[in-house]
Amino acid sequence: MREYAIRTHNLSREYDGEVILKEINLQLERGRIHAIIGPSGVGKSVLLRLLNLLERPTSGEIYFDGKALKENNYLKLQRRMTLVFQKPALFNTSVYENVAYGLKVRRENRGSIAEKVEKALGIVGLKGYKHKRARDLSGGEKQRVAIARAMVLEPEILFLDEPTSDLDPRNVAIIEELIKYINREFKTTIVIATHNMFQARRLAHQASVLFEGRIIESGNAQEIFTNPQDKRILRFIEGKIIF
Ligand SMILES: Nc1ncnc2c1ncn2[C@@H]1O[C@H](COP(=O)(O)OP(=O)(O)OP(=O)(O)O)[C@@H](O)[C@H]1O
Ligand SMILES: [Mg+2]
Repeated sequence: MREYAIRTHNLSREYDGEVILKEINLQLERGRIHAIIGPSGVGKSVLLRLLNLLERPTSGEIYFDGKALKENNYLKLQRRMTLVFQKPALFNTSVYENVAYGLKVRRENRGSIAEKVEKALGIVGLKGYKHKRARDLSGGEKQRVAIARAMVLEPEILFLDEPTSDLDPRNVAIIEELIKYINREFKTTIVIATHNMFQARRLAHQASVLFEGRIIESGNAQEIFTNPQDKRILRFIEGKIIF
């Protein structure tokens, strides 16, 4: 039997009576990269917030390690996951302080914080940047600081919400390599929201395509891209609809 880090059953989310996500059934295998693909406004960010337990679904269940949420220790689960927001805001302080923040909140001791920050900056290729002001960095470097800030917490599951949407092609490639490296090196389960199906093909093992509130196709990322069952995905690949 496959091991799922997260599974959902008929997960739905409404805002003020308006249905955004309808009966979402996801199976996210441990240690893999999963892409949630879909056009702007479809509910990718909402779905990541539900999976990361920042928001409650209107109905439906989420299972972690095969156990329903209510049987799990909620706080403990939250500590095993981190979300890099679509537009991560850095504090107007040093890179070090930005990366150390989550560990300070967790009241780790200074020695351990220093060690972990050093390691996290190494992961994202920003060793030697710790005294720089975060706000002075380039867009690509800022995004790597945001990822270091997540990785310093050593998450089992890392959620990335459109991690490359504001970057130029060179920085997109750097971030994509970094995401693959993190998955390979630390076996981190990664869930990435993107409107870019080509990015999903480059990065992801598995993909789920959201359209009009529902998952219209889910499975092996390469297969979805090369041989989609849903006509709308084919039209997208052929450039006839824009995500
Ligand atoms: N807190 C909220 N209150 C009311 N409506 C919300 C809230 N959060 C999201 N929505 C609505 O839910 C829908 C989905 O939003 P979401 O941000 O998840 O889209 P998305 O797929 O991430 O889009 P993008 O690709 O542009 O980031 C939108 O119509 C949005 O207005
Ligand atoms: Mg979004």
